[in-house]
Amino acid sequence: MKFFADTADTVAIQDLEDTGLLDGVTTNPSIIAKSGANFLERIAEISKICKGPVSAEVAATDYDTMVKEADKLASIADNIAVKVPLTEAGLKVCKGLRDNGTMVNVTLCFSAGQALLAAKAGASFISPFVGRLDDISQDGLGLIEDIVTIYDNYNFKTEVLVASVRHPMHIIDSAKIGAHVMTCPPSVIKQLYKHPLTDKGLAAFVKDWDATGQSIL
Ligand code: G3P
Repeated sequence: MKFFADTADTVAIQDLEDTGLLDGVTTNPSIIAKSGANFLERIAEISKICKGPVSAEVAATDYDTMVKEADKLASIADNIAVKVPLTEAGLKVCKGLRDNGTMVNVTLCFSAGQALLAAKAGASFISPFVGRLDDISQDGLGLIEDIVTIYDNYNFKTEVLVASVRHPMHIIDSAKIGAHVMTCPPSVIKQLYKHPLTDKGLAAFVKDWDATGQSIL
């Protein structure tokens, strides 16, 4: 499973890159607004830190303007994945970009039907938002299962990029289902390290080793 960081925080991205766990980065207009950074400059910075796909989302919703924005975003770096919304215009833009060899991440996916359309448009990634479905008592992981099944049935090359991940169980359950990628805040990835029995066991090892009075070095 590939791990993408869902953030525009370059310090957090660099930290994750240093652990060797960073496979990509996703951003969206809300994440960029929260960062307070200049969008184009920040995406350029991120694309230098992370060598994997860096998702940068168009702001427009009409076809013609999305095409212009997409071309500008794609020109920032070779590892840019242009993010477009799952709308008729967005998927039309997706088809054109993919025909030109540009990576496309289709976002704001909330149904299997939408995911089927995105795969037929040749999307590189589909981003179903599990957390936002869970937030309204709908089965986010059930959607991931449905999409993986449909994509496997027809050998679609689109990668399922689980988004709106709220906690480690979203990651683990998506991995069990066989989703290709997940994206989440770096803090959620860090939570995967933690287990109280690991902490307890390590403390006991350190205590018992110290009692030997020995040194390895
Ligand atoms: O960036 C797409 C997705 O990860 C957004 O997540 O937490 O705003 O639902 P969230």
